[in-house]
Amino acid sequence: METIRIALYGVGAMGARIGRSLLKKEGVEVVGAIDVDESKIGKDLGEALDINRLLDVKVADDPDDVLSKANVDVVIHSTQSYLRQAYPQIASAINHQANVISTCEELSYPYIAEPELAHRLDELARNNGVTVLGTGINPGFLMDTLVITFTCVCTRIDQIRVMRVMNAATRREPFQRKIGAGLTVDEFNERLRVEAITGHVGLAESASMIANALKWKLDRIDVQPITPVIAQVPVESQVIKVETGQVAGLHQSVKCIKDGKEVITLDFQAYLGAEEEYDAITINGVPNITEKIAPCIHGDHGTVAIVVNSIPKVINAPPGLMTMKDMPVPSAVTEDMRAYLD
Ligand SMILES: NC(=O)c1ccc[n+]([C@@H]2O[C@H](COP(=O)([O-])OP(=O)(O)OC[C@H]3O[C@@H](n4cnc5c(N)ncnc54)[C@H](OP(=O)(O)O)[C@@H]3O)[C@@H](O)[C@H]2O)c1
Repeated sequence: METIRIALYGVGAMGARIGRSLLKKEGVEVVGAIDVDESKIGKDLGEALDINRLLDVKVADDPDDVLSKANVDVVIHSTQSYLRQAYPQIASAINHQANVISTCEELSYPYIAEPELAHRLDELARNNGVTVLGTGINPGFLMDTLVITFTCVCTRIDQIRVMRVMNAATRREPFQRKIGAGLTVDEFNERLRVEAITGHVGLAESASMIANALKWKLDRIDVQPITPVIAQVPVESQVIKVETGQVAGLHQSVKCIKDGKEVITLDFQAYLGAEEEYDAITINGVPNITEKIAPCIHGDHGTVAIVVNSIPKVINAPPGLMTMKDMPVPSAVTEDMRAYLD
């Protein structure tokens, strides 16, 4: 059969990494690229991906123009974190009968922040016969799908606690910026207040996905205030220098309360210079489970992988809006991508 045709919607740090990864895969080709960044529009995609060859695909800012000409099977969408902003972009892809895999964090489980938009996306996707999936390393896997998977070996669950601690110095620049690395504490607090930095988006989505998989009716989800992690010694990455006393990153958590008890806790720490990096899942129940992945899974590599590996599963899936908990068990694509199609 013909190759699977992909368009990149967003050719930033993530989109470019995903694009480079796709070029190494068999059975798939990148046939379109959309971005609003002036520095990329009109460039050959090969230049935008910073590879030493041209791909004969121009980066363009008009999604309708790109998608009406390119006959795309799957749009890989990686532009923004909030569904309200990303909605029109995803809707335009669906209207061109393209399946969508997006790294938009709120789309990973949109029923809490944007139930109305989730409903509209589901309806639009069904009407156009395509599938929409929000995924990524986190949200999308480490603090939700993986946790849900572990619950399958429990007959009773009293409490779930998940921790992710990462050294942000090894992550892409937009991530280091959005956790406030290099700011003073006052600047950090002010930028949080005016939403110029967001911190990690998706903890409430991950917690809700776990609760929904277990059919737990929560009293409430308490999203704790984001707090800065202050550098005790100077630390630096390739792009940011942090002096002692400045912000190295942040600490965030959510707690889910059910019948008056804390039943799910997700704790996320990302800062430059974190000495021990790990992902830890603890389930108190029958049996107890304690799982620690150290060092933690690299977020950027992991996101590229889970997005690319989701392509055949999304093509195979029934139409509509899906979350990772609705999809088959995630797995890698190591052979020609077409071998995984039903
Ligand atoms: N779920 C996960 O695990 C996960 C993992 C990684 C990333 N993410 C999320 O994925 C998104 C992309 O990440 P990133 O690091 O690649 O960000 P980035 O480097 O800022 O790239 C985003 C690109 O999309 C462009 N863009 C913005 N609005 C657009 C629009 N309306 N139409 C077309 N292009 C548009 C941006 O252009 P401008 O720069 O001109 O705005 C930029 O070139 C972020 O929201 C990030 O938080 C999620």
